[in-house]
Amino acid sequence: MDQALILEIAKKLNYPTPLPIAKEIVEFTDGRKKDIDEILKRISKDEPWEYIRGYTYFLGHKIYVNQNVLIPRKETEELVTIALEEIKELGKVKKQIIDVGTGSGCIAIALKKALGQEIIAIDTSLEAIKVARKNSRENSCEDLQFHNSDFENLEISNTLVTIIVANLPYIPSEDINFLENSVKNYEPIEALDGGHDGAKHYCKLLNDIQKKDINFEIAIFEIDTSMEKSLIEMLDSTEEYNYVVMNDSFNRKRFLKVEKL
Ligand SMILES: C[S@@+](CC[C@H](N)C(=O)[O-])C[C@H]1O[C@@H](n2cnc3c(N)ncnc32)[C@H](O)[C@@H]1O
Repeated sequence: MDQALILEIAKKLNYPTPLPIAKEIVEFTDGRKKDIDEILKRISKDEPWEYIRGYTYFLGHKIYVNQNVLIPRKETEELVTIALEEIKELGKVKKQIIDVGTGSGCIAIALKKALGQEIIAIDTSLEAIKVARKNSRENSCEDLQFHNSDFENLEISNTLVTIIVANLPYIPSEDINFLENSVKNYEPIEALDGGHDGAKHYCKLLNDIQKKDINFEIAIFEIDTSMEKSLIEMLDSTEEYNYVVMNDSFNRKRFLKVEKL
């Protein structure tokens, strides 16, 4: 590969570690100058490289993305790792696993690949479901079940042990304007906005779990510290759940495990 070209591109990228992306740009364009210039122009307007290239990797799986879905994040890989540990602890019990707010389908695909069992994946955005379906085909996970629905309106078994994994939108509405341009100008608002304190979608999901006649066992959520208080208050008020807040690898409180008491 043309090392001089990679270095030249890296110098033009305003990233903390520009070399890997410069290398990817050269690979993607086969070093064609016109295409490289076009990509650099788009990046200079803060467009994420993942949307330009059209895919990213999540726990080693190639995941196609467009502006209808959130670009999968590193912390969500940690969410999946935690969820897998919890699910494996349940052993051979017959269960249904539901990925709420599937977006690109990255969580459902990673769970399916690791567990070999059917996963139900839901999203209120039809455009996101289309991307998730494409990703399931490309990753040979055709037996994933997709539904363009929220949890309240989802029809599921009421006997199977139910496990929920969710990365729902959790940015407080008033913080959206302060996000980086690459996020606020390109990623879908439906994947970011979590209402006034960020907890809107998770509070509703916990309410819906309570209302539904299902055999709920455990839920693992990706959260942010801004919403922790509201969620904990709600969980304390119901007295139906045990919960534990877990840290990510940077020692930030980023995950919430909720269990039936
Ligand atoms: C933060 S993105 C996460 C996408 C993907 N799971 C990931 O981790 O990269 C949240 C997703 O939840 C969807 N969503 C928002 N509200 C929802 C709801 N009430 N029920 C189901 N999906 C919802 C959005 O359309 C979006 O695709």
